[in-house]
Amino acid sequence: MDTLEAIYTRRSVRDFTQDVVSKMDVQDLLKAGMQAPSAKNERPWHFIVINDPDVLHAVPSFHPHAKMLFDATLAILVCSDRRLELKRASWIQDCSAATENILLAAHAKGLGAVWLGVFPDADRVQGMQTLLALPPEIRPMALVAVGHPASRPEAIDRYDESRVHYNGW
Ligand SMILES: Cc1cc2nc3c(=O)[nH]c(=O)nc-3n(C[C@H](O)[C@H](O)[C@H](O)COP(=O)(O)O)c2cc1C
Repeated sequence: MDTLEAIYTRRSVRDFTQDVVSKMDVQDLLKAGMQAPSAKNERPWHFIVINDPDVLHAVPSFHPHAKMLFDATLAILVCSDRRLELKRASWIQDCSAATENILLAAHAKGLGAVWLGVFPDADRVQGMQTLLALPPEIRPMALVAVGHPASRPEAIDRYDESRVHYNGW
């Protein structure tokens, strides 16, 4: 799948089979995340790979939109390390770019994934910090549920000419 096809056809997948995501696939997703652009090339991210069903199943107790984790065999938490955010406060953008790269890589590899928002919801941030015993300087930004899709939503063309402006508003 080429890059534009991946971008145009990616959708959130929330319906997974019980097939395990291979270590090689996990490695590719992490590589894609770390390949993202970041302000001043700070790369403040850390990635926590979660494949323990007990941990996955605990997330919906504090995250109301994460019930698909009862089916998913894998999730990747994208975090920022305050100690690496030295030059700019761009960690949300940096981690968001990494998260989107993971979503696109998953789709390109025939996997399915969905972005589960964590930051800035205080309950979700606290829930992830407690569940994964995160040090205080590690800020959870987004959780990506990943798996082999049991079903996949159809691609949608969302191009909207009315949102495009040239050389000013
Ligand atoms: C910041 C952010 C937070 C999101 N949080 C959730 C979530 O908690 N649960 C969920 O099922 N989907 C979540 N999504 C996925 C969106 O619902 C989804 O991207 C949107 O509806 C568009 O659908 P698509 O991804 O299939 O194109 C989130 C997406 C973003 C960018």
